[in-house]
Amino acid sequence: MSTLWHGRFGDGPADALLAYTASIGFDARLAVDDIAGSRAHVQMLGDVGLLASQEVTQVLEALTQTEAELLAGDFAFVVTDEDIHTAIERRVTELAGLAGAKLHTGRSRNDQVATALRLFAKRELAVVAKDVLALQAVLLERAVQAGQSYLPGYTHLQRAQPVLLAHHLLAHGWALARDIDRLVAARERLNVSPLGAGALAGSSLPLDPALSAGTLGFNNVFENSMDAVSDRDFVAESLFVLSMIGIHLSRLGEEIVFWTSQEAGFASLDDAYATGSSMLPQKKNPDIAELARGKAGRVIGNLTGFVVSLKGLPLAYNRDLQEDKEPLFDSLDQVCLGLRAMNGLMSTIKFNQKAMAAAADDPTMAAVDLAEHLVAKGIAFREAHAVVADLVRRSEAGEAPLAELVSQNPQLGPSAAALLAPGVAVGRRSTPGSTGSGPVATQIERFGAHLEADRARLE
Ligand code: ARG
Repeated sequence: MSTLWHGRFGDGPADALLAYTASIGFDARLAVDDIAGSRAHVQMLGDVGLLASQEVTQVLEALTQTEAELLAGDFAFVVTDEDIHTAIERRVTELAGLAGAKLHTGRSRNDQVATALRLFAKRELAVVAKDVLALQAVLLERAVQAGQSYLPGYTHLQRAQPVLLAHHLLAHGWALARDIDRLVAARERLNVSPLGAGALAGSSLPLDPALSAGTLGFNNVFENSMDAVSDRDFVAESLFVLSMIGIHLSRLGEEIVFWTSQEAGFASLDDAYATGSSMLPQKKNPDIAELARGKAGRVIGNLTGFVVSLKGLPLAYNRDLQEDKEPLFDSLDQVCLGLRAMNGLMSTIKFNQKAMAAAADDPTMAAVDLAEHLVAKGIAFREAHAVVADLVRRSEAGEAPLAELVSQNPQLGPSAAALLAPGVAVGRRSTPGSTGSGPVATQIERFGAHLEADRARLE
């Protein structure tokens, strides 16, 4: 059996060792990135005179063929291909002979794997960003369609004040806008090439890390070879950003679960985005929304698991670092699937304007409007709060409907009672960023412009 390190060992690797340590089962996903890294490396080796130009050509051709085999699915793996990097180098050496054997000059799998994973993360975080932008666009569209429809806004899951549906939907949209910021920042910070760091200490050969960095489209080159091979901050950061997106999907999911419950009845799901029950014929379940909640736990688990793997590691490379891939792949997959499913759910969900309004038209929801009416007349807010609270308490005790008590109250009277009429309170919010129709119209404009700017930022 031939491993990359067989020269040093008398015996071949035990099956148990290979079974436990191999990463080929999952890191084959890095194939195109490994090949990109190898191309850049071999070109650099040619440019600095370590490989003859004809050797460079031979290796590049072998890389192209290897890539074609991998993409076509007819690449023949062998047992000792413990990871994709080993497999590719083995194949290139088979194809290009002695020139292939020069590919690993001045390179270690340590800088190689860090390079491939950064290239992968840079590309995939952009895919996530596109999916986030698409969900934001749906929220915006639904906010525009929502017009003046309103529903109760909650604190402590107790009805608090009526809010426009558009306002509520865009609250989730702005949270996703912060995720875009985080994705952009994480991509910027990971844009550093580790290639040329070698195993940990650099090389005595005349390598030029800036050349391969340039070929690979990295903005920067490592400053310290030990940091270059042991830094996985970018994985931890990516996992955090993905966790925040997972959390935002989860919180939106929880609203959907509640809104579509019979208890609220504010919305119903399109058949294509709901599930049924195997036993109860009447059921229509919000499984996407629930899994958005549930899978957030898994994505947060990927983050916490990985940062714990990282925390005690001495410099530089340790095999523990191989544990960076599965959580990253899984979080990327789950978050993208979640964003797409939620996109479909939100584009097709039907809001029940009547039920939302009926729940929000409870006159006590306008209690603060009564207090503010008194404040406008010069009464201190604390005092106004007490006046209204007393009326609410008396009305709830069964003395009379709130509107009647308000009408009879000398400080309030019929003009104040009019504030309790259906749909009045929501329209009275006029402060910037509030739920009144004027501010929400402005918000819709601003959100649209923000979305456009983010799209441009990610071009
Ligand atoms: N599969 C390994 C990883 O993903 C590659 C690096 C192995 N390096 C080593 N010195 N054993 O981290």
